[in-house]
Amino acid sequence: MGRITLKQVTKSFGDVEVIPPLDLEINDGEFVVFVGPSGCGKSTLLRLIAGLEDTSGGTIEIDGKDATGLPPAKRSLAMVFQSYALYPHMTVRKNIAFPMRMAGVDKAEQKRRIENAASVLNLTDYLDRRPGQLSGGQRQRVAIGRAIVREPAAFLFDEPLSNLDAALRVGMRMEISELHTRLKTTMVYVTHDQVEAMTMADKIVVLRAGHIEQVGSPLDLYREPRNLFVAGFIGSPKMNLLQGSEAEKRGAVTMGIRPEHITVSATEAAWRGTVGVSEHLGSDTFFLVNLEGYPDPITVRADGEVSLHPGDTIHLIPDESRIHRFDAQGLRIP
Ligand SMILES: Nc1ncnc2c1ncn2[C@@H]1O[C@H](COP(=O)(O)OP(=O)(O)O)[C@@H](O)[C@H]1O
Ligand SMILES: [Mg+2]
Repeated sequence: MGRITLKQVTKSFGDVEVIPPLDLEINDGEFVVFVGPSGCGKSTLLRLIAGLEDTSGGTIEIDGKDATGLPPAKRSLAMVFQSYALYPHMTVRKNIAFPMRMAGVDKAEQKRRIENAASVLNLTDYLDRRPGQLSGGQRQRVAIGRAIVREPAAFLFDEPLSNLDAALRVGMRMEISELHTRLKTTMVYVTHDQVEAMTMADKIVVLRAGHIEQVGSPLDLYREPRNLFVAGFIGSPKMNLLQGSEAEKRGAVTMGIRPEHITVSATEAAWRGTVGVSEHLGSDTFFLVNLEGYPDPITVRADGEVSLHPGDTIHLIPDESRIHRFDAQGLRIP
């Protein structure tokens, strides 16, 4: 079991309130991602759940029991630290065994859990190596193995992939998702990378300045961002946000449309502009287009084969059904 309930949880450092009162329910078995810009309080929130920081107010329940005052070791949660937190002089086996040795788990049981974790993580052949003899991805798996053997009610990850190179990050992202599918244990994962959030989460919690902007499935947030902040944060490239006559025409202060919801037309269409920059990726082409009557360029995602170049006139058809409207407060108008 791994249900975590935050009720009116707050955190201040001195007289700076980093987390204003916050409510959140994390269900058993869920993969929940906290996402938001650097400094918005993601790590603080995770550390409050782990018990590495004391709350300034409110309660944290784990499986219905008040855990607010419990020390980290009593919370049945396992925090996965970055791979460089491994002991370099110990073998993989000893690194993985370490938390069990501390907890006084008996030798036979230690062996069973190490073998099980190694098999789940494809580390069986590496148990006698030291971290220095492993790749970055393997080291990260050892760090995860050390959490698995504790058989926690939930795993807590704080940006575990941020030190890996781009290709390895994609691979590890998939491995962690697969691990979740296999273990079915609650995972709470912190990242500033909205792509990680979109690809891994059952439920995304978007944070800004310690405040929850929106909670929902990746597609919920993509389709119906509650406000301008979420609209701009979720999705890559970012949603285009336009103000002025085109927005006013639709009864809004700001109009939003994603680059993938604008089609390039061969003939005169609703919008006309000039190509500023074209990025040909092969699979897609991204155009920065200066629309007539708008100060800021918009991004358009087109087919990889579209051959338009800077300075060319471009005709565009916005998908009317996928236009978002926002009011003066930045809230989405349904
Ligand atoms: N121990 C601390 N003492 C004082 N301020 C802190 C401490 N830890 C974090 N903060 C502040 O709390 C805010 C949130 O930090 P953090 O949770 O680390 O953000 P994130 O993980 O989203 O980047 C930041 O403004 C940070 O400076
Ligand atoms: Mg952080």
